[in-house]
Amino acid sequence: MARQRKGPANNTIRHLITKLNPRSPISEQYRTIRTNLQFAAVDEQLNTMLVTSAGPAEGKSSTVANLSIVFAQQGKRVLLVDADMRKPTVHYTFRVDNRRGLSSVLVGELELDEALTKSDIENLDILPSGPIPPNPSELLGSNAMRKLLELAKQHYDLIIFDTPPVLAVTDAQILANEVDGSLLVVRSKQTEQDAAVKAKELLTPAKSKLLGVVLNDREVTKNQYYYYGE
Ligand SMILES: Nc1ncnc2c1ncn2[C@@H]1O[C@H](COP(=O)(O)OP(=O)(O)O)[C@@H](O)[C@H]1O
Ligand SMILES: [Mg+2]
Repeated sequence: MARQRKGPANNTIRHLITKLNPRSPISEQYRTIRTNLQFAAVDEQLNTMLVTSAGPAEGKSSTVANLSIVFAQQGKRVLLVDADMRKPTVHYTFRVDNRRGLSSVLVGELELDEALTKSDIENLDILPSGPIPPNPSELLGSNAMRKLLELAKQHYDLIIFDTPPVLAVTDAQILANEVDGSLLVVRSKQTEQDAAVKAKELLTPAKSKLLGVVLNDREVTKNQYYYYGE
C-alpha cells in the first residue's frame, strides 16, 4: 500500500481513500489485495477474516476500513467488526456511535442487530467496539463470540475484524482460531523484521489460514504512481 498524504495524527478525522476517490491508484491497490485474498482462499470459504499487525500504528485499522469498502463496492454484504476493544477507532473512521457494539453483544446486553449500525456505504454495516471491557481476550474467546459469528454469517458474505497488535496482547491470536483467515499488515520502515517474523509465527498455529501480508506505507515516486494511472 502506497503512502497516503499525511492526515491528522489523532483519531478524530480519517479519510477513506476507497470511498472518496475510488479511481485513485491507492484504491486500485486495495482492489488488488481484494483479488489476492479471493485467490488465497480459492478452495475454501472466506466468510470471516481478521487483520492484524505486530505492533501499534502500522495500518491495521486503515487496511480493514478500506478493504471492507472495496468488498462492499463489489456487491458483497460486509460487516466490519471492531475487535480492537483496547484502542478502538472504527467508530471514528465511520463516524458511528460507540456506546453500543461488540462488547455489548458479548456480555449479553444487546442482540447483534441492536448493536450494529449501517454505514454510509452501500452493503457495509459496522459493529463498533462498544464500551471498552476489562477482559477483551476472554470475551473474544467466549461462546458468545462463536454465537455472534454463526449469526452474522447468516446475514453477511464477509465479516472482517479489526484487532489489536498481535505482539502486545493475545486477542488477535484468539480470534484467529475462530475465523477463516488472517491478514498481516507490515509497515514500511517501521515494523522491525524480527517483529514481523514473530507475528507470523504467532498466527501460524491458529486454526485459520494466514492469507498473506500487506506492505503498508511503501514509498513510491511520482512516476511509479502514474504507471498505475487510469
Ligand atoms: N499508507 C499510509 N499513509 C499515510 N498514513 C497512514 C498510512 N497507513 C496508516 N496511516 C496513518 O497511521 C496512523 C495509524 O494507522 P492505523 O490504521 O490506525 O494503524 P493501527 O490500526 O495499526 O494502529 C493513522 O493516523 C493512519 O491514518
Ligand atoms: Mg487500529
